[in-house]
This record gives sequence, C-alpha cells and structure tokens, in this order.
Amino acid sequence: MVEKLQDIAAAMVARGKGILAADESSGTIKKRFDTIGLTSTEDARRDYREMLFRAEPAMSQRISGVILYDETLRQKAADGTPLVELIRNAGAVPGIKVDMGAKPLAGYPGETVTEGLDGLRERLAEYYELGARFAKWRGVISISNDLPTKGAIHANAHALARYAALCQEAGIVPIVEPEILMDGTPGDHSIDRCYEVTDAVLKAVFAELDLARVALDGMVLKPNMVIDGKNARKASVEEVAEKTVKCLKANVPSDVAGIAFLSGGQSDEEATAHLSAMNAANDLPWPVTFSYGRALQAAALKAWGGRSENVAAGQRAFSHRAEMNGLAAIGNWKRELETAA
Ligand code: 13P
Repeated sequence: MVEKLQDIAAAMVARGKGILAADESSGTIKKRFDTIGLTSTEDARRDYREMLFRAEPAMSQRISGVILYDETLRQKAADGTPLVELIRNAGAVPGIKVDMGAKPLAGYPGETVTEGLDGLRERLAEYYELGARFAKWRGVISISNDLPTKGAIHANAHALARYAALCQEAGIVPIVEPEILMDGTPGDHSIDRCYEVTDAVLKAVFAELDLARVALDGMVLKPNMVIDGKNARKASVEEVAEKTVKCLKANVPSDVAGIAFLSGGQSDEEATAHLSAMNAANDLPWPVTFSYGRALQAAALKAWGGRSENVAAGQRAFSHRAEMNGLAAIGNWKRELETAA
C-alpha cells in the first residue's frame, strides 16, 4: 500500500504529539555522551536509543515520529528486533536525516551550505525500503553584524527545496529545517534581529519551495523560534511567543501541513513554555508542535548515565519531557506541572 504524503504529514503533527529528533550524527552523539563520561560505541548508541524507543507512555502517547541517523535505521535492539520496528509498534512514524551536514560555502567566509543532494534520489529509495516515511534536511544560518548574506540564504533555501521535491517524488514527507542559530558566534543578537533574519529566510525558503513545485500539504516546516541570541538579554515567554507567531503567520502559507520547532539550545523548560504560550494565545492556521532533540533528551541522557540499571529512570525522564511538550502542543502546559512530577 502506498501511503499518501498528506496522511503521513498529518500523523507527524497529530494533536498533542510531536517529533523526537534522535538523528545526532556520530560526531554529535559523541559530544552528548562525553557529557556523561560514556565512550560512543555502536552498542552504546544502540542501548541509548533503544531505551528511548521503548519508553512508555512517551512513545505511544506523545511521540508521533522519530528522526533517525543512518546507522540507527539499520540497527537492531539487543533482542534482535529492528529499532524501526519498535518505533512503528508504538504507533510512531520512523524518519531519517538525509543531509550530509553544513559545509563552508565557497566565496562566503563564515557561512555554510548544507550538502547531500548528489545521489539523494537513490538514497531516498533505499530509506523508503528500510521503513522511513519522512526525512529531514537542516540548513544552518548564523547571525552576526554582517551575516547572513543574501547569497548564503539563497544557497540554503535552494538546497532545501531541491531536497523536498526529491523526497515527495519518493513518497517521503520532507521536514524542511532552516535553522537560524541562537547559539552561534557571537550569539549576542537581539530578538528583533532574529525576527528580521527569520523573516528573510522563510521568505526565501517558501519562494524556492514554490519554484520546486513542492506540495505544501505534504511537508512539515521545522523552524527556529524568534528568540534572543544565547548570550543576549532574555525576552519574556510572551514576547518570544508573540514574535514567533507573527513571523510565521507573515511567511508560512496555511496549506503547510504543520510546524514542528527545533529547540536549538533553549533549556528544556523554556522550549516547552514557549511552545505552550504560542498554542494557548493564538488561533493558528496549522498544527504547531515540537521536533526537539536536546530539549527532549537532555534529562533522559543524564538520568541514564550509560548504566543499564538506570534505564527505567532514563525512560521516566524522557516520558516526563514528552508529556510536558505534548501538553504544550495544545497550549495546556503549566509551570506547576514540572514541580509536581
Ligand atoms: P534541537 O532540538 O536539539 O535543536 O535538535 C533538533 C534538530 O533536529 C536539529 O536539527
């Protein structure tokens, strides 16, 4: 049976659910494991991800889909069950990160373009066979006094659109992720500067998606929130929510199947509070939820600490964050729920 792109996309942004980004590359997961003093072996990566994918009630109640890295899509749990099977059994959709990372953009010092278009059609066909029904590609934009340039915005928007068109041809829903870094260098920009850059980037991305004939109801947008740089003054939760919604409404056509934010280095609770405030205070034309990596995993990674006797504690920590973010996706999170846990 060929599933419709629109049905997969709708499942990814189902009410009260969101996406777990567990697609850290080998380099990134090593950095995460370093924080708990764990060596990043193939088995350690398997054990960690198996812990997450077996976590209940998170997986069956709050997680709509999981973004995997190539290695994980092919890996089996300790008992031989493919990890993809664990995800599907919980009722979630398996997805795959397909970009090959942000590389220096020739002629544009300090800026990058995401690579991975060559051979992508063939890789997508294989990923479909392996069970992936959605994909992710992340373009990265840094803010400084003179960056980003128009050239870097254009190059990244163009690549995102070509990737998205190839995904849809393969029956795979593209997550289109243009990330404006909050924790880049120097990371001291204001929320208004973030607004201006996010606005310009989203305009470029939707112009390219249109030229590439991407079906908007068969894609999910994964944007950053409009927020201060990590080393700048902190805007209130209300200000972040209001400016983010304003920027999205100005740029994202209502046909888009849904919006699922990245957390981008916000604290767990900030990422949840911002999402909840957006959903509570607004009548939005699309489902607005989470596609968090660090903000869903940080507490679980710490509670687990690489020790098998801590698997249940790690799963509890993950289920708690998934529950908080699931409530935020319907505007029902309250700070008191954090301490009551
Ligand atoms: P964070 O939520 O940690 O930013 O990760 C989400 C992601 O998939 C970035 O590409």
